Amino acid sequence: MSTELAWPEPVTRVQQLSDSGIRVIPDRYVKNPEDQPGAAASDGPNIPVIDMEGLSSGDAEVRRRTAALINEACREWGFFQVTNHGVSPELMERCREAWREFFQLPLAEKQRYANSPATYEGYGSRLGVEKGVPLDWNDYFFLYFLPIGIKDENKWPTLPVGIRELAAEYSREVVELCGKLMKILSRNLGLKEDYLLEAFGGEEELGACMRVNYYPKCPQPDRTLGLSSHSDPGGMTLLYSDENVFGLQVRRGDTWITVKPQPNTFIVNLGDQLQILSNDNYKSVEHRVIVNSAKERVSLAYFYNPKGDKVIKPAEELVSPEQPLRCSPTTYNDYRLYVRKKGLHGKTQLESL
Ligand code: OGA
Ligand code: NI
Repeated sequence: MSTELAWPEPVTRVQQLSDSGIRVIPDRYVKNPEDQPGAAASDGPNIPVIDMEGLSSGDAEVRRRTAALINEACREWGFFQVTNHGVSPELMERCREAWREFFQLPLAEKQRYANSPATYEGYGSRLGVEKGVPLDWNDYFFLYFLPIGIKDENKWPTLPVGIRELAAEYSREVVELCGKLMKILSRNLGLKEDYLLEAFGGEEELGACMRVNYYPKCPQPDRTLGLSSHSDPGGMTLLYSDENVFGLQVRRGDTWITVKPQPNTFIVNLGDQLQILSNDNYKSVEHRVIVNSAKERVSLAYFYNPKGDKVIKPAEELVSPEQPLRCSPTTYNDYRLYVRKKGLHGKTQLESL
């Protein structure tokens, strides 16, 4: 087990590589030809954008239609953007810019928070501990918020000034939004309003953490990826990223759709645990991140997860002769062990259930 607590080889900060002015990326970052993004298409469809204000409209028909749009997005896309979601746009932007400043600090300052694969908490540059595997063009900072007791602000940066308070406040507001979404998803599935929240262990016990992703400029963006193709293993992810720098791509059949974020929106995507709980009615869809040579990109990926040792299985109400059980029960702890060891690998793990 002890070998799992350390990185298998010295960690290279991608930002250092990028800043060094290399014109050719090291082989470790070059993806297999079939995974290379090539030239990114800038047009094409966007994922659904849904105005959440519609859910509290005085007009019952508007409420019904908004809920139906969310339901359809969960079934057909596994991804949607939300506007008028109740989280302060000013807080979102201040938090994101504070994290951008963190990554602009001198290396030695960031190294104080260097992480290990035991928990991933802190400043990191890779996922998974397999030696010699291809790497992604990304550095990150991982923070834990929930359940209460797991949060340790001493592991968070002290600089730039105010970043701890911003991260804590951001988490408080985003978790509230996640709670609202869980109710809508429950009702849309025909379950009682607090079904999914309870399945996650309730407000007291569910998990929440955030990965702040930093994608430095890359001299050969067509040959590598900022994040390899994966589906999120947890419950639900709320992503907030730069509006002006595209990067996230969502799989749609055999093609990749580049998400065009609107200002002040969250990109919501469902993770594997919600796919299991919904007995496959909802989809946890593969996505990846492309990088570019002109601009760095910052994204805040907030993960809202079931309590680690709670058994996750399809809701009985959603199992019928017409729609038999699609997945076997698991716990999130068992499930994520795989990702921790192997890193990101498409959807191979969910398929094994
Ligand atoms: C993730 C993720 C996308 C992005 O962190 O799981 O998919 O755009 N991030 O950074
Ligand atoms: Ni993801």
